[in-house]
Order: sequence, then C-alpha cells, then structure tokens
Amino acid sequence: MAGNLTASVTGQIITIQNQTDTKNIEIINRNLLRIFKTKNSEELVKLHYNDIKENVELHVEKTADGILVSFDLYQIFADENLNISIQKDGQPYFEEYTGDASIYVEKKEFSLAELEGHKHEETLAEFKTQINITLFDKEDKIYGLGDKAAQLNKRDYEYVSWNTDDPSQHNETYKSLYKSINYLLVNHHQDKYYGIFYPSSFKCIFNIGRYSDKFMYIGSEKGEYDYFVLLGETPMEITKVYASLVGHTLFTPRKMLGYHQSRWSYNAQEMEEIREKFKKYQLPIDYIHLDIDYMERYKVYTVKKEEFPDLKGMAEQFAQDGIDFITIIDPGVKVEDGYDVYEYLKEHDGFATLNGEQYINQVWPGDSKYPNYFKTKTADYITDITKTFMADNHVKGIWCDMNEPASFNGPLPDDVEFPSDTEMHYHEEVHNLYGEYMSRAIAKAFEDENKRPVVITRAAFATTSPFSTTWNGDNQSLWSHLEASLPQVMTMNICNFAVNGVDIGGFGNETTKELLIRWMEANMFSLFLRNHSSLHTRKQEPYAFDGETIQIYKKMLDLRYEFLPYLYDLLENAHTTGVPAQRPLFFNYPADERTKQINDEVMIGDNVLFAPVVRQGQVSRAVYLPAGTWVNYFTKEVYEGGKEYLVEMPLDATGIFIKAGAIVPMYKNLLHIENKNLDTLYLYVEQGADGEYIHYEDDGESLDYRKAVYNRYKITKKGNTLTFHTIEDNYTSSYKEIVILSNGKEIKVTFAKDFECELN
Ligand code: GLC
Repeated sequence: MAGNLTASVTGQIITIQNQTDTKNIEIINRNLLRIFKTKNSEELVKLHYNDIKENVELHVEKTADGILVSFDLYQIFADENLNISIQKDGQPYFEEYTGDASIYVEKKEFSLAELEGHKHEETLAEFKTQINITLFDKEDKIYGLGDKAAQLNKRDYEYVSWNTDDPSQHNETYKSLYKSINYLLVNHHQDKYYGIFYPSSFKCIFNIGRYSDKFMYIGSEKGEYDYFVLLGETPMEITKVYASLVGHTLFTPRKMLGYHQSRWSYNAQEMEEIREKFKKYQLPIDYIHLDIDYMERYKVYTVKKEEFPDLKGMAEQFAQDGIDFITIIDPGVKVEDGYDVYEYLKEHDGFATLNGEQYINQVWPGDSKYPNYFKTKTADYITDITKTFMADNHVKGIWCDMNEPASFNGPLPDDVEFPSDTEMHYHEEVHNLYGEYMSRAIAKAFEDENKRPVVITRAAFATTSPFSTTWNGDNQSLWSHLEASLPQVMTMNICNFAVNGVDIGGFGNETTKELLIRWMEANMFSLFLRNHSSLHTRKQEPYAFDGETIQIYKKMLDLRYEFLPYLYDLLENAHTTGVPAQRPLFFNYPADERTKQINDEVMIGDNVLFAPVVRQGQVSRAVYLPAGTWVNYFTKEVYEGGKEYLVEMPLDATGIFIKAGAIVPMYKNLLHIENKNLDTLYLYVEQGADGEYIHYEDDGESLDYRKAVYNRYKITKKGNTLTFHTIEDNYTSSYKEIVILSNGKEIKVTFAKDFECELN
C-alpha cells in the first residue's frame, strides 16, 4: 500500500501524496513544524515564523508502510492515509488520530426542559476541516485557550473560538468568551509536552476529548487543514516557541503595572474623591479610568463638556499627584450628521458595508457604524484622532472595549464586508481579529511618538499580544469568579499575554467587604491590576467599606508596589524571551505530578510561590510547596518542599512563599510609579541557598529599549557573599543606593556598577 505514497522535498517542506490527497510537513526550525494541506491566509493573521526559520538537517526515506522523516530528536511518520505521527527518542510524542473520528452528537428532545427556561446548546458537527489528535491516555492534560473562565486543564470540555460579549455568569462550560487564542499545550506520558496552534481566524471549535477519551479535534467550517506543532522538552521551552511564532507580548510602560481605579462611570466629583481619599489613606495609585459616560452621548473621541468642562486641566492636575487618565473608546461610531468622526469615516469609505451600503447596528450610542480597521487609511485616521484626542485632553491611555465587535441589534451577519487594501474580507473571517486591528491602530498612536502603548483590549486573537494588554471582561462579584481568576490569568500568561487581569472586586453584582479584600489579595501580582465595577452596583473603592478594609487594601497595595521591579523584570523577560510572568507550578516543576492541576497557586517568576485565599470564610488553607526550601514572606517560617502544609491566613494575610536563595529586587514607599523617584533599589535576599538573579533597568516609558538603551545587572549570592555586576550598560541608571535586605538586616551600599558585600 505504501507503494502508492510519494514524497518530495522542497527546502524544508516535505510534500507527501497518496492517490487522493496531499499533505505537507514544513520544518520551520527544530522546535516548530507546520502540517498543512492548504495554508490559511496570512494577509490578516500575521505570524512571525520567518524570523525564526533555521536550517535543519533532515532525512526522508520510504519504509514498508509509509514515509519517515527524521531530524534532530524527532522521527515524523506519514502512513498510507497521510496520517502524521511523531516519535521523540523512539517514544510516541504526537499523533494524528487514525481511528473512527465521527463526532457524537446526541439527538435530544429538549422542548420540555425549554418550557422551564433551559437553553439547548448547539454543537457544531459539520466541518470542512477536522484535525483529529490522539489523546494517549486518560491522564493527558490540555492547557491553553486564553480567557476561558475555567480551570487550567481543559480536558473533557469543548470551546469555540468566536469572540463573544456575554455579560452573564461565566463558568467553565461557557464555550466562547471575548478572546480567541487557538493555542493548546498538551502534557502526556507524565513528562512529555507539545503545543498546537491553529492559525485560522474563522470560527473554530476545540473539542478536547468531550465525546471521546481517544481523541480531541479542531473543527472549522471555513478554516483550512493547517496547524503548527510546537516541539520541546518542557512547557517553558514550548511556550517560548509559541511566543516567537505569534509575536512577543507587549512591553508596556512601567507605570502600567501600578494600580488602576475604575467604575462605570465616575463623574468629576467622584474622581476628585478618589484623588483625595487615596492621598489621605496613602493608598498607591497610578491611573483612573473614565468609562463611557465621559463622552457626549457615547460619541467616541468627544468629551461631555457639562461634566468635564476642562478635562485637560483636570488631567494635568491629577498628573501632578502621579495619577494619569485612561479613557474608554469603543469601535461603534454614532450615526449623526455633523459629528466629525462619523462624517470623515462616512465620506472616506471607512465603515464596514453590507451589499455595498454602510452597515448599521446598535451599541451604546444607538445606531452605529463599525470602522473598518483592516484598511490602512481608516486605521491611520484612527491613529491620528487618537493622538489628537490624547494630546488635547492629557489622556495617557486607551481602553478598547466592545470590540468583539459587540452589537445590541443581533449579531453582525457573516457577510458584512471589511475589505483590506487589497482583498475583500467578510465578517466571518475578521470577527476574531477585529479587536486586534482596533488595538493596533491605537497602539500606533503611542509608538509614533516613541512611547510604549498604554492600551487595554477586551477582544483579542492569539496574535494581539504584541499590541495590547488585556482584561478578561465582565466578571461578577462571586467567590467562584475570584477563584477562576487565578487559572484565567495564568492561562492568559501562558498564551503570551503578560499584562492581564480581571476586574478586582468583580464587575457585575454587589461585592462584600471580605470578597473585595480577598480579591485584592489574590490578584495583587496580576500585571494589570484594576478595581472596576458596573453601573448601579455597590461601590467598591478601597474606602467604600470600613477602616479595616482600607488598612488591608493598603497593606496589599504597598506590597504590590514593593515587588514592582521584580514584576517589571518578569514583564521584560516575557517580552524578550516568551517566558510567562505568572505561571502554573508545572512550568517550573514539569516532572512533579502534583503540580499539574493546581489552580489556586501561582508561580510569580521562579522565586515567588503565591497561594492566596479564594474562598469565603477561610482563614487557613492547604499549600503545596514543590521541591526546595520555601520561606513564608510574612511569618518567616521555613518549609521543606515536596509536601502540603496548612498555613494560617487571616483576613489580612495571603500566601507568599519565597524560595531559599532567591534575590528579589524591590522598591519601597512608592505611592505612584514615577521613574525619577526610583533612586533606591532594595535587594531582598532569602538565605538558605545560593542564588542568582538578573535585574533590568531602563527609562520605563520610551521605545529606546529597542535601541538597547538599558542596563542589566547580574546579582549572585554565594555563601555569605553577594556580588553585583553590571553586564549591560547603555542607560544612565537612576539608582543612587542599593539596600540589601537579608536576615532582617539592612546593608546600604552606594550604587556602583560592580561591587561585592558580605551579608552577615
Ligand atoms: C462593558 C465593559 C465594561 C464597561 C461597560 C461600559 O460591559 O466590559 O468594563 O464598564 O461595558 O462601558
């Protein structure tokens, strides 16, 4: 049978044919393969594999039952039906499923249940493309897919990539949320990992063994048979490959990692109250968000003058206190004659069309049209008006919302037209990319002025992370949503979105004092840290409850700001290398079975294990500590890892465990992140082992880092000696003093590029 197979090699693409079909295997580098029949269009989905192509020595041979391609540690085998399998070191590593892959869809008579209000879930079952992948074992675990309100392991569930604005209570069975991140990280045979990326922007389904324990599948009605397999030894290695394929995560200004206070919507007086009360209670803060009501009748790029007669003057005053303004901008442009944004886009073919007519749906302003960001001229116009709007009003950041795109008058039809400069594209293809293209146009407004973008988007595709930060949409003030926030943020991080967070306190519904405090604690290391709540819900600023709440909130915010240089180092590292800032424990301990499904503990970099309380009424919790020695940051209790401990965590405490030998850079006493005040760098040293750490310093806001204007310091602890050594030196450091914190003592050293000191 295999006699019918032919294989030809063009560069590093191996084309294999049987009598009816053709499949190609492209070896992009030793960690990245592309398997395809026809490639998905990359006109709009911009991938970066050209930057990481590498020559690989490969060997192709015909065997008795197929074609065998060998390279590096891998043997790829194509059988007579062109099913691909990969072995690594002679062991099964990845397999397209060869058994019966017909999809089980139970025919249910549902009308009786519907009478009571139950909803019938439709499952897509007819696909043009179905990629079937073997699940080797019941223990295989599958991670990824971005913002889903689920646990880390997505095994046994089904999700649909179709960006969706749905404010009801999200949970693990919600098939679609705001983002479509078609990346899976698979763990099998205990310590083996590979990744899958599906590069189509059309709607697709990820059925992760929901109907079968033998295979999972990616199904699409319009997407092509074309996917990437990411190869490597560890989850960290595979995730780095993923980041290099979709583009490294955005490097934001350092200030973006400060605290954001928001609500739908603050008026001018409430904003003054925030400024006063944060000052009075010495609560750190960097941004206030202005939600839709700052606009005149929800017209984007306008300001409601009765409420904000001089937004610019107000913003400048707040800036003197270290607080910048971020304004929301939605895509929907109000249909209104004489409104300049509307008029311009109407006259310049800047809106999406249906059958050649500009298409109208409804969002906050009522009848609205949708800018076609896929056309350069329209995107450039959005970039320009964003620049002008920010300059005119002293606004420092843009929050992009409703960009799934949302619509109040039924979904946009699949055939709404969004032509690019060269090709016609329809809604069904661009839907999942709409948020990205909006964010790109807005991010450019910053980059044109040598500034790092302060852009937050709700909708995103896998390739959006180089352009925007994200939050996970409309959660609710529920303990289950607090609990879900940890796996959600970790998953967004392993999907290459470093600056991500959820609305602290919960957006919808009414929060409680305890929930707000625990939420602040549990999210204190999220790189995007924002308290945000919905219209008409109970207020949830830190001073909305009582003195105890303010005190604990302040304690946590102070800690967040202390850890700021550590978080900034993690962000820079995520941006440069693709290593996730916040990650599940198995990323650092991939061979430790216990770590594979821990949803309520987070590695913050390599040195900090975070285990907050996320359940009502709990004042202690079980914490699993992996191998090594760990120290409770608050109590200084020392624990030997490889075990679970019950740790006391009263309302004013959370679980921060520092690894023995860790060096953690810190700042102290910051109420706002102003680059000029960063003159003292603290180095917290955890005794008990030797350690090494790389610290990064730059101006915190410009794009000059792209021209290597930064410093890197290597700090080593060996026995009792700490060595500080400048390894890259292109930036004029703002540090004047280094204070080493070790064993409860402070050792002060005048800043020098290289020095050594004794710790005791
Ligand atoms: C959407 C956003 C939410 C915002 C509201 C009003 O629901 O997700 O954050 O407050 O719109 O703009």
